[in-house]
Amino acid sequence: MAVSTPPATTVAPLEGSPATAEVDAVVVGLVPGDSGESGPVLAPGAELVDAGFDGGLAALLATAGATGKAEEVVRLPSRGAVRAPLVVGVGLGKAVTADAVRRAAGAVARSLSGTATIAVATPEPAAAAEGVLLGAYRFTAFRSEPGSGKAPVSSALVAGLDAAGTERAAAIGEAVHTARDLINTPPNALYPETFAARAAEIGEAAGLTVEVLDDTALAEGGFGGILGVGQGSSRLPRLVRLTWAGGAAPAKKVALVGKGITFDTGGISIKPAAGMDHMTSDMSGAAAVIATVALAARLNVPVAVTATVPMAENMPSDTAYRPGDVLTMYGGKTVEVLNTDAEGRLILADAMVRAAEDAPDYLVETSTLTGAQMVALGNRTAGVMGSEELRDRVAALGREVGEDAWAMPLPEHLRGELDSRVADLANVTGNRFGGMLAAGIFLREFVADGLAWAHIDIAGPSFNTGGPWGYTPKGGTGTPIRTLLALLEDIAANG
Ligand code: BES
Ligand code: MN
Ligand code: ZN
Repeated sequence: MAVSTPPATTVAPLEGSPATAEVDAVVVGLVPGDSGESGPVLAPGAELVDAGFDGGLAALLATAGATGKAEEVVRLPSRGAVRAPLVVGVGLGKAVTADAVRRAAGAVARSLSGTATIAVATPEPAAAAEGVLLGAYRFTAFRSEPGSGKAPVSSALVAGLDAAGTERAAAIGEAVHTARDLINTPPNALYPETFAARAAEIGEAAGLTVEVLDDTALAEGGFGGILGVGQGSSRLPRLVRLTWAGGAAPAKKVALVGKGITFDTGGISIKPAAGMDHMTSDMSGAAAVIATVALAARLNVPVAVTATVPMAENMPSDTAYRPGDVLTMYGGKTVEVLNTDAEGRLILADAMVRAAEDAPDYLVETSTLTGAQMVALGNRTAGVMGSEELRDRVAALGREVGEDAWAMPLPEHLRGELDSRVADLANVTGNRFGGMLAAGIFLREFVADGLAWAHIDIAGPSFNTGGPWGYTPKGGTGTPIRTLLALLEDIAANG
C-alpha cells in the first residue's frame, strides 16, 4: 500500500529582522481599520518590514486590494524595500485570536504553495507556525505522478517563535498530517488488516505498547459488536490498542476510543449511492485517537493514555449481519440490530467496555457517528455529549483550539425508545428525531458506572467536502486531535 511521506514543510524561529531575511516572501498580518480609517492596519510584528517601506506598507497593500478581512491574501512586489522579493499581507479579521492567526497562516501556506521559503512576522508566533504546517498539506500517494503540481512551502521562519513552540508545532503538524493521510487513503487500500498494520507502525515508531486482536482473538474474547458488523466483509475486523504509559509519574489515566469503520456501505440497510464515497472517512475518529496517543508520547504529556480502536468494514453480503439479528456484545449485554447502518455504536460499545477494564479516570470517544450531527450543528461544529463536567470541558477546549464544538444533551426519554422486543436494547429508535442524541444514549449504556466520559460526534468536521479554508484542506481534517491534546494537557495540569 502506498504510504505517503511526512510533511515536507519545516518551521523554525526567525533569527534577525524579517526585513533582511533571505526568503522568497515575507508575511505580515493586517486587520480592518476602524470605521474612521480608510484602509487596513498592520498587525503587530510588521514594524521592521513597514520601516523598509517608510511606513507606507499598509497603504500599498490597500492599493493592491487588502482590507484585513480574515484569510484574505494580498501580494506585493517589494522592489528592494525589504530583502525578500515579495511581501504578503494576510487578513486576520477584527478579533486577533490565536486561531485567527492560525487560520490566516494556513491560508498563506495554501496560497504560497510553490514558494520555497517564507518568513512570518505576525502576532501569536506559535499559532502561526502551527497554521503554516496544518495548511501546508497535500495527499499525493495515489497520484501516478506524486511529484507533479506545486510543492508545499518548504520552510517557514517565524518571528518570535521559541524552541518549545517549534517542537510543539512540528509534533502537532505531524500528528494531524498522519491522521489526514489515513483518512484520505482509499478504502480498497485501507481496510481493517492494513489499518491495524499502519496503526501498529505508528505506535511502534512512537514507542507505544501495541496490541492487535485479529478476528480469531475477537471471537475468543467475545467481541460480538465488532464481529457482527465486520462479518459481511472478506476483510475481517481488528481491535488495536496503543498505550502511552505517561512517563515516570502519570497524573491520571485516560481511555481514548475512536470509530474505525474503514468503509460504511450501510450493510444490508444499504445507503443511497449518492455521496457514499464520503464513507471512506468513517474511520476518522480512529485516525484521530491513534495520532493523539502517539502525539502524547512525543510531547511527553504526563498522563497515561490508551487508544482502543475497533476496525471493521460494513458491507452487505451473504455473510453480513441482518436487521433482526441479536448480537451479544463484549461484557454480555445483548443488542437487537434494527438497522445495520447504525454500525458505529456497535463496534464502539465493545471497545468502550474493553477500555473501561483498564480503570481509566476518563473515557473520551470520538466518531463519525450520525448524519444527524450535521443536521443539528453543520459541517464545522462537533457535537459533544456525555457526563456533564467532562462534556463541557471538552466542548470548551475544542472551541479554544479552533476545533469548534458544542455541548449537546442526552434526553432521558430517548432511552425508552431504544427498548427492544427481544434483547437488552435496540441499536436505533423508531424515528429520526434527535438522532445524534439517541446514538449518545446508546453509547451511555456501555459506560462503566461512575466513569466520567465524553462522546464527540465529528461526522461533519472530520471530512471537508467543500473547498479548503484556513488551515483546513479538502478531505480528512484531523479533528479532534488538537482538542484531545488540549484535554490531556489540561488533565495533566488540573486533574
Ligand atoms: N457513518 C454514518 C454517519 C455519517 C453520515 C457520517 C454522513 C458522516 C457523514 C453512520 O454509520 C450512519 O450511517 N448513521 C446513521 C444512523 C441511523 C441509521 C440511525 C445515520 O446517521 O443515518
Ligand atoms: Mn452507518
Ligand atoms: Zn458509519
